[in-house]
Amino acid sequence: MRFLPDSHAPSVTVVGFGYVGSCLGVTLAERGLRVTGVDSNRALVDELRDGRCPIPEPGLADAVARLAGSGRFTCTTGYEDAGATDVVVITVGTPVGPDHRIVTDQLEEACKRLATRLRRGQLVVVKSTVPPGTTRELVLPLLERSGLVAGRDFGLAYCPERLAQGSALRQLAELPVVVGGYDPESTAAAVQFWKQALDVPVQTLPGLETAEVVKLASNWWIDVNVALANELAQFCAPHGVDVLDVIAAANALPKGEGRVNILLPSVGVGGSCLTKDPWMAWRAAADRGIALETVETARRVNDAMPTRAGQLIADELAALGKAPAECTVAVLGVAFKSNTGDLRDTPVVGVVDALRATGAAVRLFDPLADPADVEARFGARPVASVEAAVSGVDAIAILAGHQEFHRLDFARLRAEVAMPCLIFDGRMYYPPDTIADLTSLGYRYRGVGR
Ligand SMILES: NC(=O)c1ccc[n+]([C@@H]2O[C@H](COP(=O)([O-])OP(=O)(O)OC[C@H]3O[C@@H](n4cnc5c(N)ncnc54)[C@H](O)[C@@H]3O)[C@@H](O)[C@H]2O)c1
Repeated sequence: MRFLPDSHAPSVTVVGFGYVGSCLGVTLAERGLRVTGVDSNRALVDELRDGRCPIPEPGLADAVARLAGSGRFTCTTGYEDAGATDVVVITVGTPVGPDHRIVTDQLEEACKRLATRLRRGQLVVVKSTVPPGTTRELVLPLLERSGLVAGRDFGLAYCPERLAQGSALRQLAELPVVVGGYDPESTAAAVQFWKQALDVPVQTLPGLETAEVVKLASNWWIDVNVALANELAQFCAPHGVDVLDVIAAANALPKGEGRVNILLPSVGVGGSCLTKDPWMAWRAAADRGIALETVETARRVNDAMPTRAGQLIADELAALGKAPAECTVAVLGVAFKSNTGDLRDTPVVGVVDALRATGAAVRLFDPLADPADVEARFGARPVASVEAAVSGVDAIAILAGHQEFHRLDFARLRAEVAMPCLIFDGRMYYPPDTIADLTSLGYRYRGVGR
Protein backbone atom coordinates (compact mmCIF):
# COMPACT_ATOMS: atom_id res chain seq x y z
CA MET A 1 0.00 0.00 0.00
CA ARG A 2 1.48 3.34 -1.08
CA PHE A 3 0.80 5.38 2.07
CA LEU A 4 1.02 2.73 4.79
CA PRO A 5 3.82 0.28 5.65
CA ASP A 6 3.17 -3.40 4.82
CA SER A 7 5.98 -4.73 6.98
CA HIS A 8 5.21 -3.31 10.42
CA ALA A 9 2.47 -1.75 12.52
CA PRO A 10 2.29 1.96 11.64
CA SER A 11 3.78 4.51 14.00
CA VAL A 12 1.65 7.60 14.59
CA THR A 13 2.11 11.27 15.40
CA VAL A 14 -0.94 12.96 16.90
CA VAL A 15 -0.73 16.75 16.44
CA GLY A 16 -2.82 18.56 19.07
CA PHE A 17 -2.78 16.46 22.23
CA GLY A 18 -5.74 18.14 23.92
CA TYR A 19 -8.97 16.37 24.71
CA VAL A 20 -9.44 14.43 21.44
CA GLY A 21 -5.74 13.97 20.71
CA SER A 22 -5.03 12.56 24.19
CA CYS A 23 -7.94 10.12 24.08
CA LEU A 24 -6.98 8.94 20.61
CA GLY A 25 -3.20 8.88 21.10
CA VAL A 26 -3.42 7.04 24.39
CA THR A 27 -5.88 4.51 22.93
CA LEU A 28 -3.56 3.82 19.98
CA ALA A 29 -0.54 3.42 22.29
CA GLU A 30 -2.47 1.08 24.58
CA ARG A 31 -3.29 -1.01 21.52
CA GLY A 32 0.46 -1.42 20.89
CA LEU A 33 1.24 1.32 18.34
CA ARG A 34 4.17 3.67 18.83
CA VAL A 35 2.67 7.13 19.35
CA THR A 36 4.20 10.61 19.49
CA GLY A 37 1.96 13.35 20.85
CA VAL A 38 2.78 16.88 19.64
CA ASP A 39 1.26 19.83 21.44
CA SER A 40 2.22 23.49 21.58
CA ASN A 41 1.15 23.69 25.23
CA ARG A 42 4.41 23.17 27.13
CA ALA A 43 2.73 22.71 30.54
CA LEU A 44 0.47 19.95 29.13
CA VAL A 45 3.43 18.19 27.51
CA ASP A 46 5.42 18.34 30.76
CA GLU A 47 2.56 16.76 32.69
CA LEU A 48 2.08 13.99 30.13
CA ARG A 49 5.81 13.30 30.11
CA ASP A 50 5.64 12.86 33.88
CA GLY A 51 2.87 10.30 33.42
CA ARG A 52 0.08 12.63 34.55
CA CYS A 53 -2.94 13.74 32.54
CA PRO A 54 -4.88 16.89 33.46
CA ILE A 55 -7.64 16.20 30.91
CA PRO A 56 -10.81 15.15 32.76
CA GLU A 57 -11.94 11.98 31.01
CA PRO A 58 -12.70 8.74 32.89
CA GLY A 59 -9.83 6.26 32.48
CA LEU A 60 -7.49 8.65 30.66
CA ALA A 61 -5.19 9.55 33.57
CA ASP A 62 -4.82 5.85 34.49
CA ALA A 63 -3.94 4.98 30.88
CA VAL A 64 -1.33 7.78 30.72
CA ALA A 65 0.19 6.53 33.98
CA ARG A 66 0.29 2.94 32.62
CA LEU A 67 2.02 4.09 29.43
CA ALA A 68 4.77 6.03 31.25
CA GLY A 69 8.03 4.23 30.60
CA SER A 70 6.43 1.76 28.16
CA GLY A 71 8.44 3.16 25.27
CA ARG A 72 5.28 3.29 23.16
CA PHE A 73 4.33 6.87 24.01
CA THR A 74 6.30 10.11 23.91
CA CYS A 75 5.11 13.69 24.01
CA THR A 76 6.81 16.81 22.71
CA THR A 77 6.24 20.42 21.66
CA GLY A 78 8.41 19.99 18.55
CA TYR A 79 7.56 18.54 15.14
CA GLU A 80 10.91 16.77 14.70
CA ASP A 81 9.40 13.27 15.05
CA ALA A 82 6.41 14.04 12.82
CA GLY A 83 8.41 13.21 9.71
CA ALA A 84 9.59 9.93 11.17
CA THR A 85 6.23 8.28 11.82
CA ASP A 86 4.08 6.54 9.19
CA VAL A 87 0.85 8.38 9.96
CA VAL A 88 0.15 11.91 11.20
CA VAL A 89 -3.29 12.63 12.70
CA ILE A 90 -4.28 16.28 13.19
CA THR A 91 -6.56 16.97 16.19
CA VAL A 92 -5.95 20.65 16.94
CA GLY A 93 -8.78 22.90 18.09
CA THR A 94 -11.11 24.54 15.57
CA PRO A 95 -13.20 27.10 17.47
CA VAL A 96 -15.54 29.57 15.80
CA GLY A 97 -15.29 33.35 16.09
CA PRO A 98 -18.02 35.86 17.01
CA ASP A 99 -19.37 35.62 13.43
CA HIS A 100 -19.52 31.80 13.82
CA ARG A 101 -16.76 31.39 11.20
CA ILE A 102 -14.13 28.73 11.91
CA VAL A 103 -10.91 30.11 13.40
CA THR A 104 -8.15 28.25 11.59
CA ASP A 105 -5.05 29.59 13.41
CA GLN A 106 -4.29 26.27 15.14
CA LEU A 107 -4.89 24.25 11.99
CA GLU A 108 -2.81 26.54 9.79
CA GLU A 109 0.10 26.59 12.23
CA ALA A 110 0.00 22.80 12.55
CA CYS A 111 -0.01 22.30 8.76
CA LYS A 112 2.78 24.81 8.18
CA ARG A 113 4.99 23.18 10.78
CA LEU A 114 4.12 19.70 9.56
CA ALA A 115 5.05 20.71 6.00
CA THR A 116 8.64 21.32 7.13
CA ARG A 117 8.85 17.65 8.21
CA LEU A 118 6.55 15.83 5.79
CA ARG A 119 8.20 13.01 3.85
CA ARG A 120 7.25 10.80 0.93
CA GLY A 121 4.94 7.88 1.76
CA GLN A 122 3.27 9.38 4.86
CA LEU A 123 -0.47 9.41 5.45
CA VAL A 124 -1.95 12.61 6.93
CA VAL A 125 -5.39 12.33 8.52
CA VAL A 126 -7.34 15.43 9.58
CA LYS A 127 -9.75 14.81 12.48
CA SER A 128 -10.47 18.35 13.67
CA THR A 129 -14.02 19.47 12.90
CA VAL A 130 -14.06 21.76 9.84
CA PRO A 131 -16.51 23.17 7.26
CA PRO A 132 -16.61 21.43 3.86
CA GLY A 133 -13.70 22.33 1.62
CA THR A 134 -11.23 23.06 4.44
CA THR A 135 -9.06 19.97 3.95
CA ARG A 136 -8.85 20.51 0.18
CA GLU A 137 -8.57 24.31 0.13
CA LEU A 138 -6.57 25.04 3.30
CA VAL A 139 -4.81 21.92 4.61
CA LEU A 140 -3.69 20.51 1.27
CA PRO A 141 -1.94 23.64 -0.10
CA LEU A 142 -0.21 24.24 3.24
CA LEU A 143 1.07 20.65 3.31
CA GLU A 144 2.19 20.91 -0.32
CA ARG A 145 4.51 23.75 0.72
CA SER A 146 6.73 20.77 1.57
CA GLY A 147 7.30 20.32 -2.17
CA LEU A 148 5.45 17.00 -1.98
CA VAL A 149 2.18 16.39 -3.82
CA ALA A 150 -0.97 14.99 -2.18
CA GLY A 151 -2.10 11.69 -3.67
CA ARG A 152 1.28 11.14 -5.32
CA ASP A 153 3.82 11.64 -2.53
CA PHE A 154 1.67 11.61 0.61
CA GLY A 155 -1.82 10.42 1.43
CA LEU A 156 -4.50 12.77 2.74
CA ALA A 157 -7.85 11.88 4.31
CA TYR A 158 -10.51 13.50 6.47
CA CYS A 159 -11.90 11.29 9.25
CA PRO A 160 -14.12 13.18 11.70
CA GLU A 161 -13.86 12.46 15.41
CA ARG A 162 -17.24 11.54 16.81
CA LEU A 163 -16.50 10.41 20.37
CA ALA A 164 -18.62 11.68 23.24
CA GLN A 165 -16.94 12.97 26.37
CA GLY A 166 -17.49 10.83 29.42
CA SER A 167 -17.24 7.58 27.47
CA ALA A 168 -14.54 8.53 24.99
CA LEU A 169 -12.16 5.62 25.55
CA ARG A 170 -14.92 3.03 25.16
CA GLN A 171 -16.30 4.80 22.12
CA LEU A 172 -12.92 4.95 20.42
CA ALA A 173 -12.82 1.16 20.62
CA GLU A 174 -16.33 0.76 19.17
CA LEU A 175 -17.50 3.63 16.96
CA PRO A 176 -17.27 3.16 13.20
CA VAL A 177 -14.70 5.52 11.66
CA VAL A 178 -15.79 7.58 8.67
CA VAL A 179 -13.16 7.98 5.93
CA GLY A 180 -13.16 10.47 3.08
CA GLY A 181 -9.90 10.39 1.13
CA TYR A 182 -8.37 12.87 -1.30
CA ASP A 183 -7.90 10.08 -3.83
CA PRO A 184 -8.43 6.29 -3.91
CA GLU A 185 -4.93 5.50 -2.57
CA SER A 186 -5.37 7.88 0.37
CA THR A 187 -8.79 6.41 1.12
CA ALA A 188 -7.46 2.85 1.00
CA ALA A 189 -4.56 3.71 3.32
CA ALA A 190 -6.83 5.48 5.82
CA VAL A 191 -9.32 2.60 5.81
CA GLN A 192 -6.56 0.08 6.46
CA PHE A 193 -5.00 2.28 9.15
CA TRP A 194 -8.18 2.57 11.21
CA LYS A 195 -9.00 -1.13 10.84
CA GLN A 196 -5.49 -2.05 11.96
CA ALA A 197 -5.19 0.60 14.65
CA LEU A 198 -8.60 0.42 16.30
CA ASP A 199 -10.17 -2.73 14.84
CA VAL A 200 -13.46 -0.89 14.30
CA PRO A 201 -15.84 -0.85 11.31
CA VAL A 202 -14.95 1.76 8.70
CA GLN A 203 -17.41 3.64 6.49
CA THR A 204 -15.87 4.82 3.24
CA LEU A 205 -17.28 8.00 1.72
CA PRO A 206 -16.87 9.46 -1.77
CA GLY A 207 -14.48 12.23 -0.71
CA LEU A 208 -13.10 14.76 1.73
CA GLU A 209 -16.09 17.11 1.67
CA THR A 210 -18.65 14.36 2.33
CA ALA A 211 -16.76 13.28 5.44
CA GLU A 212 -16.43 16.91 6.59
CA VAL A 213 -20.20 17.41 6.29
CA VAL A 214 -20.97 14.12 8.11
CA LYS A 215 -19.48 15.48 11.32
CA LEU A 216 -21.39 18.75 11.10
CA ALA A 217 -24.61 16.93 10.18
CA SER A 218 -24.38 14.68 13.26
CA ASN A 219 -23.97 17.54 15.72
CA TRP A 220 -26.57 19.66 13.92
CA TRP A 221 -29.03 16.75 14.27
CA ILE A 222 -28.22 16.26 17.97
CA ASP A 223 -28.70 19.95 18.74
CA VAL A 224 -32.02 20.15 16.86
CA ASN A 225 -33.22 16.92 18.48
CA VAL A 226 -32.35 18.13 21.98
CA ALA A 227 -34.11 21.42 21.22
CA LEU A 228 -37.22 19.40 20.31
CA ALA A 229 -36.91 17.47 23.60
CA ASN A 230 -36.50 20.72 25.54
CA GLU A 231 -39.57 22.27 23.92
CA LEU A 232 -41.51 19.05 24.43
CA ALA A 233 -40.59 19.26 28.13
CA GLN A 234 -42.03 22.76 28.35
CA PHE A 235 -45.16 21.57 26.54
CA CYS A 236 -45.67 18.58 28.88
CA ALA A 237 -45.08 20.23 32.27
CA PRO A 238 -48.27 22.38 32.52
CA HIS A 239 -50.36 19.35 31.52
CA GLY A 240 -48.97 17.29 34.40
CA VAL A 241 -47.48 14.95 31.78
CA ASP A 242 -44.05 13.40 32.37
CA VAL A 243 -42.02 14.12 29.24
CA LEU A 244 -40.05 10.90 29.71
CA ASP A 245 -43.25 8.83 29.42
CA VAL A 246 -44.01 10.63 26.17
CA ILE A 247 -40.50 10.17 24.79
CA ALA A 248 -40.37 6.46 25.67
CA ALA A 249 -43.68 5.78 23.91
CA ALA A 250 -42.97 8.06 20.93
CA ASN A 251 -39.58 6.41 20.43
CA ALA A 252 -41.19 2.99 20.03
CA LEU A 253 -42.69 4.06 16.70
CA PRO A 254 -40.94 2.53 13.67
CA LYS A 255 -40.07 5.24 11.18
CA GLY A 256 -38.09 4.90 7.97
CA GLU A 257 -35.27 2.41 8.53
CA GLY A 258 -35.23 3.01 12.29
CA ARG A 259 -37.50 4.46 14.95
CA VAL A 260 -38.49 7.86 16.22
CA ASN A 261 -35.56 8.82 18.44
CA ILE A 262 -36.24 11.88 20.58
CA LEU A 263 -33.29 12.56 22.88
CA LEU A 264 -33.56 13.74 26.49
CA PRO A 265 -34.37 17.25 27.72
CA SER A 266 -31.94 18.86 30.16
CA VAL A 267 -30.74 22.13 31.62
CA GLY A 268 -29.04 23.00 28.35
CA VAL A 269 -26.49 22.00 25.73
CA GLY A 270 -22.82 22.69 26.40
CA GLY A 271 -19.34 21.45 25.66
CA SER A 272 -16.93 22.50 22.99
CA CYS A 273 -18.72 20.83 20.04
CA LEU A 274 -22.52 21.07 20.10
CA THR A 275 -22.39 24.77 20.87
CA LYS A 276 -20.20 25.57 17.85
CA ASP A 277 -20.44 22.87 15.17
CA PRO A 278 -24.03 23.72 14.14
CA TRP A 279 -22.96 27.37 13.87
CA MET A 280 -19.95 26.32 11.79
CA ALA A 281 -22.34 24.64 9.34
CA TRP A 282 -24.66 27.68 9.48
CA ARG A 283 -21.80 30.07 8.61
CA ALA A 284 -20.47 27.88 5.79
CA ALA A 285 -24.00 27.70 4.36
CA ALA A 286 -24.62 31.44 4.80
CA ASP A 287 -21.40 32.15 2.89
CA ARG A 288 -23.06 30.38 -0.05
CA GLY A 289 -26.37 32.19 0.37
CA ILE A 290 -28.14 29.30 2.14
CA ALA A 291 -30.05 29.97 5.39
CA LEU A 292 -29.97 27.06 7.87
CA GLU A 293 -32.94 28.10 9.99
CA THR A 294 -33.08 24.92 12.08
CA VAL A 295 -29.59 25.71 13.37
CA GLU A 296 -30.66 29.17 14.55
CA THR A 297 -33.83 27.89 16.18
CA ALA A 298 -32.20 24.96 17.96
CA ARG A 299 -29.36 27.12 19.26
CA ARG A 300 -31.84 29.68 20.56
CA VAL A 301 -34.01 27.04 22.28
CA ASN A 302 -31.07 25.26 23.88
CA ASP A 303 -29.31 28.45 24.92
CA ALA A 304 -32.45 29.56 26.78
CA MET A 305 -32.59 26.41 28.92
CA PRO A 306 -30.10 27.34 31.69
CA THR A 307 -32.00 30.54 32.56
CA ARG A 308 -35.28 28.63 32.37
CA ALA A 309 -33.92 25.97 34.75
CA GLY A 310 -32.67 28.57 37.24
CA GLN A 311 -36.06 30.27 37.19
CA LEU A 312 -37.83 26.92 37.60
CA ILE A 313 -35.81 26.19 40.73
CA ALA A 314 -36.67 29.64 42.13
CA ASP A 315 -40.37 29.12 41.33
CA GLU A 316 -40.37 25.74 43.07
CA LEU A 317 -38.71 27.24 46.15
CA ALA A 318 -41.41 29.92 46.20
CA ALA A 319 -44.06 27.18 45.93
CA LEU A 320 -42.51 25.63 49.05
CA GLY A 321 -43.06 28.93 50.82
CA LYS A 322 -39.37 29.85 50.73
CA ALA A 323 -38.20 33.19 49.37
CA PRO A 324 -35.42 32.40 46.85
CA ALA A 325 -33.36 35.34 48.13
CA GLU A 326 -33.20 33.66 51.54
CA CYS A 327 -32.38 30.20 50.17
CA THR A 328 -29.21 28.25 49.57
CA VAL A 329 -29.05 25.84 46.65
CA ALA A 330 -26.54 22.98 46.46
CA VAL A 331 -25.53 22.44 42.83
CA LEU A 332 -24.20 18.91 42.38
CA GLY A 333 -22.36 18.52 39.07
CA VAL A 334 -21.18 21.63 37.28
CA ALA A 335 -19.67 20.02 34.16
CA PHE A 336 -21.37 20.42 30.79
CA LYS A 337 -22.76 16.88 30.93
CA SER A 338 -22.73 13.71 32.99
CA ASN A 339 -19.52 11.81 33.80
CA THR A 340 -17.01 14.34 32.57
CA GLY A 341 -15.20 17.11 34.42
CA ASP A 342 -15.10 19.29 31.29
CA LEU A 343 -16.42 22.77 32.02
CA ARG A 344 -16.16 24.19 28.51
CA ASP A 345 -19.39 26.05 27.73
CA THR A 346 -21.15 24.32 30.61
CA PRO A 347 -24.83 25.37 30.80
CA VAL A 348 -24.55 25.16 34.59
CA VAL A 349 -22.96 28.64 34.54
CA GLY A 350 -26.24 30.00 33.15
CA VAL A 351 -28.31 28.13 35.77
CA VAL A 352 -26.12 29.47 38.58
CA ASP A 353 -26.27 33.01 37.16
CA ALA A 354 -30.08 32.81 37.02
CA LEU A 355 -30.23 31.54 40.61
CA ARG A 356 -27.89 34.27 41.84
CA ALA A 357 -30.06 36.83 40.03
CA THR A 358 -32.95 35.78 42.30
CA GLY A 359 -30.74 36.43 45.33
CA ALA A 360 -30.25 32.75 46.15
CA ALA A 361 -26.88 31.58 47.51
CA VAL A 362 -25.27 28.73 45.58
CA ARG A 363 -22.88 26.05 46.80
CA LEU A 364 -21.03 24.05 44.12
CA PHE A 365 -19.72 20.48 44.14
CA ASP A 366 -18.34 18.37 41.28
CA PRO A 367 -16.16 15.33 41.98
CA LEU A 368 -14.76 15.30 38.41
CA ALA A 369 -14.04 18.97 37.71
CA ASP A 370 -10.79 20.76 38.53
CA PRO A 371 -11.54 23.07 41.53
CA ALA A 372 -9.42 25.92 40.13
CA ASP A 373 -11.30 25.70 36.83
CA VAL A 374 -14.64 25.73 38.71
CA GLU A 375 -13.58 28.82 40.64
CA ALA A 376 -12.45 30.59 37.46
CA ARG A 377 -15.76 29.97 35.67
CA PHE A 378 -18.22 30.33 38.55
CA GLY A 379 -16.44 32.91 40.70
CA ALA A 380 -16.76 30.63 43.74
CA ARG A 381 -14.62 27.87 45.12
CA PRO A 382 -16.39 24.49 45.06
CA VAL A 383 -16.81 22.54 48.28
CA ALA A 384 -15.10 19.18 48.69
CA SER A 385 -17.97 16.77 49.27
CA VAL A 386 -21.69 16.17 48.89
CA GLU A 387 -22.05 16.56 52.67
CA ALA A 388 -20.40 20.00 52.62
CA ALA A 389 -22.60 21.00 49.68
CA VAL A 390 -25.97 20.02 51.11
CA SER A 391 -25.60 21.09 54.72
CA GLY A 392 -28.61 23.32 55.55
CA VAL A 393 -29.69 23.86 51.92
CA ASP A 394 -33.23 24.47 50.67
CA ALA A 395 -32.67 22.78 47.31
CA ILE A 396 -30.36 20.17 45.81
CA ALA A 397 -29.99 20.74 42.07
CA ILE A 398 -28.29 17.82 40.34
CA LEU A 399 -27.18 19.35 37.08
CA ALA A 400 -24.67 16.76 35.82
CA GLY A 401 -25.63 13.14 36.41
CA HIS A 402 -22.24 11.82 37.46
CA GLN A 403 -22.05 8.17 38.50
CA GLU A 404 -21.32 9.19 42.09
CA PHE A 405 -24.68 10.95 42.36
CA HIS A 406 -26.53 7.70 41.64
CA ARG A 407 -25.42 6.61 45.13
CA LEU A 408 -26.93 9.60 46.96
CA ASP A 409 -28.77 8.43 50.07
CA PHE A 410 -31.65 10.91 50.30
CA ALA A 411 -33.04 9.28 53.45
CA ARG A 412 -29.75 10.04 55.22
CA LEU A 413 -29.39 13.53 53.66
CA ARG A 414 -32.82 14.45 55.03
CA ALA A 415 -31.20 15.26 58.39
CA GLU A 416 -28.62 17.54 56.71
CA VAL A 417 -30.88 19.77 54.57
CA ALA A 418 -33.53 22.34 55.48
CA MET A 419 -36.75 20.39 54.94
CA PRO A 420 -38.96 20.76 52.99
CA CYS A 421 -36.17 20.60 50.43
CA LEU A 422 -36.46 20.71 46.64
CA ILE A 423 -34.70 18.04 44.57
CA PHE A 424 -34.21 19.49 41.10
CA ASP A 425 -33.37 16.77 38.59
CA GLY A 426 -31.37 18.32 35.76
CA ARG A 427 -29.89 15.15 34.29
CA MET A 428 -30.57 12.18 36.59
CA TYR A 429 -33.87 11.18 34.94
CA TYR A 430 -35.05 9.44 38.10
CA PRO A 431 -37.60 6.65 37.51
CA PRO A 432 -41.12 7.01 39.01
CA ASP A 433 -40.37 4.79 42.02
CA THR A 434 -37.39 6.97 43.02
CA ILE A 435 -39.56 10.08 42.67
CA ALA A 436 -42.24 8.41 44.83
CA ASP A 437 -39.58 7.58 47.47
CA LEU A 438 -38.34 11.18 47.47
CA THR A 439 -41.86 12.49 47.87
CA SER A 440 -42.62 10.11 50.73
CA LEU A 441 -39.43 11.31 52.46
CA GLY A 442 -40.88 14.82 52.36
CA TYR A 443 -38.83 16.24 49.48
CA ARG A 444 -40.40 18.19 46.63
CA TYR A 445 -39.27 16.75 43.26
CA ARG A 446 -39.03 18.66 40.01
CA GLY A 447 -37.33 17.70 36.73
CA VAL A 448 -37.18 19.26 33.28
CA GLY A 449 -40.65 18.56 31.89
CA ARG A 450 -41.65 16.35 34.85
N1 LIG B 1 -14.00 17.60 22.66
C1 LIG B 1 -14.75 16.75 21.99
O1 LIG B 1 -15.57 16.03 22.59
C2 LIG B 1 -14.64 16.59 20.51
C3 LIG B 1 -15.31 15.54 19.92
C4 LIG B 1 -15.22 15.37 18.56
C5 LIG B 1 -14.47 16.27 17.80
N2 LIG B 1 -13.84 17.32 18.39
C6 LIG B 1 -13.05 18.22 17.54
O2 LIG B 1 -11.68 17.81 17.69
C7 LIG B 1 -10.82 18.97 17.62
C8 LIG B 1 -10.01 19.05 18.90
O3 LIG B 1 -10.90 19.28 19.97
P1 LIG B 1 -10.39 19.19 21.48
O4 LIG B 1 -11.62 19.22 22.32
O5 LIG B 1 -9.42 18.08 21.63
O6 LIG B 1 -9.61 20.59 21.59
P2 LIG B 1 -8.51 20.97 22.69
O7 LIG B 1 -8.50 22.44 22.72
O8 LIG B 1 -8.76 20.20 23.93
O9 LIG B 1 -7.16 20.43 22.06
C9 LIG B 1 -6.48 21.06 21.03
C10 LIG B 1 -4.99 20.97 21.37
O10 LIG B 1 -4.24 21.39 20.22
C11 LIG B 1 -3.11 22.08 20.72
N3 LIG B 1 -2.57 22.90 19.61
C12 LIG B 1 -3.06 24.06 19.12
N4 LIG B 1 -2.33 24.47 18.07
C13 LIG B 1 -1.35 23.56 17.91
C14 LIG B 1 -0.29 23.41 16.99
N5 LIG B 1 -0.10 24.29 15.99
N6 LIG B 1 0.54 22.35 17.11
C15 LIG B 1 0.35 21.45 18.10
N7 LIG B 1 -0.64 21.53 19.01
C16 LIG B 1 -1.48 22.57 18.89
C17 LIG B 1 -3.62 22.86 21.90
O11 LIG B 1 -2.57 23.23 22.77
C18 LIG B 1 -4.59 21.86 22.52
O12 LIG B 1 -3.96 21.08 23.54
C19 LIG B 1 -11.75 20.14 17.38
O13 LIG B 1 -11.85 20.36 16.00
C20 LIG B 1 -13.08 19.68 17.93
O14 LIG B 1 -14.16 20.36 17.35
C21 LIG B 1 -13.89 17.48 19.73
